[in-house]
Amino acid sequence: MTEPAVVVDHVSKKFRLFKESNRSLKSVAMRGRSVHEDFWAVRDVSFTVPQGSTFGLIGRNGSGKSTLLKTLAKILYPDRGTISSTGRLAAMLEVGSGFHPELSGRENIYLNGSILGLSRKQISARLDEIIDFSEVGDFIDQPVKNYSSGMYVRLGFSIAITVRPDILVVDEVLAVGDSAFQRKSAKKFEELRDGGRTVILVTHSMANIRNMCDHVAWLDRGKLVRVGEAKPVSAEYEEFMRSQ
Ligand SMILES: Nc1ncnc2c1ncn2[C@@H]1O[C@H](COP(=O)(O)OP(=O)(O)OP(=O)(O)O)[C@@H](O)[C@H]1O
Ligand SMILES: [Mg+2]
Repeated sequence: MTEPAVVVDHVSKKFRLFKESNRSLKSVAMRGRSVHEDFWAVRDVSFTVPQGSTFGLIGRNGSGKSTLLKTLAKILYPDRGTISSTGRLAAMLEVGSGFHPELSGRENIYLNGSILGLSRKQISARLDEIIDFSEVGDFIDQPVKNYSSGMYVRLGFSIAITVRPDILVVDEVLAVGDSAFQRKSAKKFEELRDGGRTVILVTHSMANIRNMCDHVAWLDRGKLVRVGEAKPVSAEYEEFMRSQ
């Protein structure tokens, strides 16, 4: 057995929800005594992701999938439990996250590449590859605030895969791309998998789950309902959704 790529061990994440009444001037004046309650978006979740596997996260809207991905990407920290991962991790979360709106696509490539641990020289060497794959063309020298959602996602995905991460974490964002880009990115996922890389993805498409994933974890209201082989777990989830 090789070492797992990611170990999620009894992870819980809470958000602080402030009560509506708290918006009054009086409560602003009384800061420090604010009315809030804790909302646990992820509750005591544990699973391991084997190295070289493609792992799916499924569940209804609001079940905690994106929150869990953000803890994997270390954008959020768990309130309880731990997450450990081995190797370089690149994440594609919300559309445009990680981009600086005023900088051009080219400048954002350098910015993101360096965040992902590449030197300026390494990034320069891969620049053409990234721009080609993104197909943003002449827009590469425009500020990214002028990009369409699809263009953001294309560029973000191109950067993420070109840094050759050991672990790629992807939220549903790829669904924003058109069908040609979907095919291109599906092919990239296959290449990553063939190269022994680990992919963790969130999708509402059970067809994608069955085509791409080895294992899935099903979350509901922040809790892990099931983790196991993609086909039976996604079938059980679909059955559950029909019954709702
Ligand atoms: N920053 C935040 N502050 C307060 N609550 C939050 C925050 N982020 C997420 N939540 C809440 O946590 C819960 C889980 O949200 P999350 O985005 O992880 O769900 P999801 O499974 O990704 O849903 P979807 O399928 O709609 O993308 C939701 O109830 C959401 O409202
Ligand atoms: Mg989400």
